[in-house]
Amino acid sequence: MDSFLIRGGSRLKGKVEISGSKNSALPILAATLMAEGKSVIQGVPRLSDIDSMIKLIGELGCQVVRHEPTSGGRGMGPVLDGPLEIEVLDERQCEARYEIVKTMRASICVLGPILAKRGKAVVSIPGGCAIGDRPVDLHVRGLEKLGATFRTENGNIVGQVHGRLKGCRMYLGGAQGPTVLGTINVMCAATLAEGDTTIVGAACEPEVSDCAELLIKMGARIKGYGTPEIRVEGVEKLAGAEHRVIPDRIECGTFIIAAAITNGELELKNCNMDHLLAGTDRLEEVGVRLERDHGTVFVSSSRRITPVEMTTQPYPGFPTDLQAQLMALLCLSDGISVVTERIFPDRFLHVGELNRMGARIRKEGPTAIIQGVKELQGANVMASDLRASAALVLAGMVAKGTTRLDRVYHIGRGYEKF
Ligand code: EPU
Repeated sequence: MDSFLIRGGSRLKGKVEISGSKNSALPILAATLMAEGKSVIQGVPRLSDIDSMIKLIGELGCQVVRHEPTSGGRGMGPVLDGPLEIEVLDERQCEARYEIVKTMRASICVLGPILAKRGKAVVSIPGGCAIGDRPVDLHVRGLEKLGATFRTENGNIVGQVHGRLKGCRMYLGGAQGPTVLGTINVMCAATLAEGDTTIVGAACEPEVSDCAELLIKMGARIKGYGTPEIRVEGVEKLAGAEHRVIPDRIECGTFIIAAAITNGELELKNCNMDHLLAGTDRLEEVGVRLERDHGTVFVSSSRRITPVEMTTQPYPGFPTDLQAQLMALLCLSDGISVVTERIFPDRFLHVGELNRMGARIRKEGPTAIIQGVKELQGANVMASDLRASAALVLAGMVAKGTTRLDRVYHIGRGYEKF
């Protein structure tokens, strides 16, 4: 599919089952590269980024089998998607090729696991992307502190370890704060290092904790995950394990905003609202009504959207991955909202497209000032990255007339049957 044609004006009503988290599943699949024996991972969403990761770990010697769902399907009861079975059969290949890395930056997640387990890793250097410059210097620096050496060769990072990695105490924060995948890469590598590692300035995102919980099931010794100081006691080997990926907090937040923007009513199942506290705090301030019942949330909205000020921050702050979707909602607020992007200061490609739909947004550096308008109008718009695309779909659903969104393959990277 190349485009979505969205006829605006319908109220969303119904039930949606939230998938397993993309950003948890990707590093979790990479972490299974360190296991001896079979790993079984449940709740892995069916997304093109996941397909790319499966292809990558396949090239790195894993046999990956996806079991079919047993019965039902999305939106029809409990999560029934078939688990993924992963077994490492051959450890000779150590290279993540450009052809895969260029389609998915999360390929960098294999760096720590293969370096720790195989002693060598060659990973194509991910380039910039639509949401800005995305360096991997912190990943490399953390692994260097564990004793790996790196050089760049023909666009690749080539890492090597003589013997085992060595545990140490390190600071891993960068200019924009902690790094999620960098923390996961170093934490994974430290599980197989000799001695103890302490990562100070670690990311606290639930996806880091989810990966730590899988690693513990594999035999790793990790404490302090979910806090800025993670402590790892190295072990000699890890075994395959079974694990269920946490629900996708960004998919959940996107559907909450979808209900709110269309003045609809949705019942969302398989949610972990604790992972979305800053998001729901802001959304309730805007006028979204949420009723929680264990893993289910009922969303409805007051017609009036109150303007807010919001800054994206590392967890537990408001997630950058919901910034674009919230902005689509604020376009229709009763006043002026201010949104500041602290994680990826250039992540504003949706601004120009929303303005084409009649929004009034002015950008000043990492800040967008949004003057609410009475209505949006359908237009031809272009998807540029995953979350910007989701925001444009939401805007299209409430706009007057028809919106044509091109390059929708971005959506399939992060939303299953959106
Ligand atoms: N940074 C560095 N050096 C590094 C790594 C990061 O300077 O070596 C900077 C980044 O440029 C950014 C900040 O640190 O300014 C934080 O980036 P982080 O490393 O945390 O991002 P990431 O781990 O590469 C993950 C998610 C992103 C999400 C960010 C922030 C995955 C696969 N990706 O990326 O998700 O926006 O954390 O929460 O987990 C998405 O799903 O749409 C998405 C982009």
